[in-house]
Amino acid sequence: MRVLISGAGIAGPVLAYHLSKGINAQVTVLERAEKLLAQGQNIDIRGTAMKVIREMGLYDELKKRNTTEIGCQFVTGKGKPIASFPVWIEGVETKCPSPTSEYEILRGDLADMLYQATIHDSNIQYKFSVTVEKVLENTEDHVKVRLSNGEEIEYDVLVAADGQWSKIRKQCFDEEDLQVVDKNMYIGYWTAPRDSSDNDWWRIYHTTKSRLISLRPDPYGTIRPMFSKMPATEEEKEKWRKVSRSHDRAAQISLLKEEFADAGYEADRLMKSLDTAEDFYFQAVSQIRMKKWSVGRVVCVGDAAYAPTPLTGMGTPLAILGAYVLAGELTSLKKGENPSGALKEYENAFKPFVAKIQDVPSFIPGVMHPKSSFGIGILHTVFWVLCKIFTQPFIARKFPEGEDEEDYKLKEYPILQQLASKTKSTTTSEKA
Ligand SMILES: Cc1cc2nc3c(=O)[nH]c(=O)nc-3n(C[C@H](O)[C@H](O)[C@H](O)COP(=O)(O)OP(=O)(O)OC[C@H]3O[C@@H](n4cnc5c(N)ncnc54)[C@H](O)[C@@H]3O)c2cc1C
Ligand SMILES: *[C@@H]1O[C@H](CO)[C@@H](O)[C@H](O)[C@H]1NC(C)=O
Repeated sequence: MRVLISGAGIAGPVLAYHLSKGINAQVTVLERAEKLLAQGQNIDIRGTAMKVIREMGLYDELKKRNTTEIGCQFVTGKGKPIASFPVWIEGVETKCPSPTSEYEILRGDLADMLYQATIHDSNIQYKFSVTVEKVLENTEDHVKVRLSNGEEIEYDVLVAADGQWSKIRKQCFDEEDLQVVDKNMYIGYWTAPRDSSDNDWWRIYHTTKSRLISLRPDPYGTIRPMFSKMPATEEEKEKWRKVSRSHDRAAQISLLKEEFADAGYEADRLMKSLDTAEDFYFQAVSQIRMKKWSVGRVVCVGDAAYAPTPLTGMGTPLAILGAYVLAGELTSLKKGENPSGALKEYENAFKPFVAKIQDVPSFIPGVMHPKSSFGIGILHTVFWVLCKIFTQPFIARKFPEGEDEEDYKLKEYPILQQLASKTKSTTTSEKA
C-alpha cells in the first residue's frame, strides 16, 4: 500500500509507524515547515492514548521528557495559592483528580519523539518544505497528487494530518461538510526565562475582564506562559478576530500587551520576554467538526478532522487514537480491497468518542474566564472546596481516576496487536 500523509505533527507519525510496521506500507510524510515544528506547550496523554504510546515502546522515552510539573494551582495576584491539585499525593494510594497528569510532555518533545521513532524506518520517507499543491484525481483505483516540488505521484490513500486549518480538507471536501465552532477565546503561548519566583507548579491566575494567565514548567530551565482572553463586547470581539486572522505576529503581540497591561501578577515580567520569544504562537480557539471524514481515498485525521480545543485537554490523545484506529482499519483490509471502506469504518469506530469529547458545555470557557473580581472569588471558592474534598485521602480513594484507565475501548486489530506484542518483547524496561 502506498500512503501519502500530509503533516508531520502528532497524528502523521503515529499513522506512518503503524502502517509501515504493520503491513509494510510505503509511506511518504510531507511537512510544510523546513524542519519539525518544535513549538507547543505542555500537553498530557491520558487514557487509551497512553496504551498506544506504550505499545509503540515509547514509555521510557516519554518519561524521560517529563515536563516535571508537580500539579496545578490556582493563585492570587500576589502568587498565593488558593487551591492546589497535586499530580500525586504522597502516602495516598489513589490519585487525586488533577489537571496535571502523570504523563506530561511538551508538544514539541512529543512530536520529536514520534519523529525519531519513525525516521530510521526504510518504509517511511519524510519530505520537508513540500506540500500537496493539488489533488488531481481521486478515483476507484488511486489518488493522484501534484506536489509543490512539481512531482506528480499516485497513491492508494491520501491522509490529511495537516492540523486544524488543513489544506487537503479544503481541497477535497465540500464547505457544507465542515463546521468551525468559534469559542470566542484567544490564546498567546511562548517561552520565557525562568526567575527565582518560579516553581514547578502549573499556576493559573484569573483576573478581571475575562483574562487568564497560566504558567507551566518545562524540562529546559525556562517557563511556558499562556495568556488567554475572552472578549466581551462586539467591538472587542471584532478587534481580536481581526488580529487573529491577520497572522501578523507584531499586531498579535501588541494587542496582548495592551490587553494585559493592568493584569497584575507576573504579567509585566512575562510580557517583557515577548519581544525576544522565538516561539510565540497565537490561537483563536475553535473546534473543527466534519459531517464525514473521508471522500473516496482521501481521509482526515487528528486536528484536521476533529480539533477539540485546548479546553478539552484532548487534542493530542485524539490525534494519537485517531491515527491508531485509522491504521487498524487499513491493516485489516484484504489484499486488493478498496480502502474507502476502511476509511468509513475508521469514522464509524471513532466518531462517537470524538463527539463525546467535543461536547464541551458552552458555558465552560466563560466559567474559566470570570469578568469581575466577584466572579473570580466564586471560582476560587469552588476550587478551594474541590481541593479540600479531593485531598482528603478517604474521599480521594473513592474517585480512582487512574491515568491508565481506558477512556476509549479500542477495537481488536489483529495485525496491530501482533505488532504490539513484538515491540513489547524487544523493549526491556516496560513498567508492569
Ligand atoms: C506549532 C504548534 C503548537 C501547538 N501548541 C499546542 C499547545 O501548546 N497546546 C495544545 O493543547 N495544542 C497545541 N497544538 C495543537 C496540538 O498539536 C494538536 O491539538 C494535536 O496534537 C493534534 O495533532 P495533529 O497531528 O492532528 O496536528 P498538528 O500537531 O497541528 O500537526 C499538523 C502538522 O501539519 C503541518 N502542516 C500544516 N499545513 C500543512 C500542509 N499544507 N502541508 C504539509 N504539512 C502541513 C504542520 O506544520 C504541523 O507540523 C499545537 C500545534 C502546532 C502545530
Ligand atoms: C513526571 O514528573 C512528576 C513531577 O515530578 C511526577 O509526579 C510524575 O510521576 C512523573 N511522571 C512519570 C511518568 O514519571
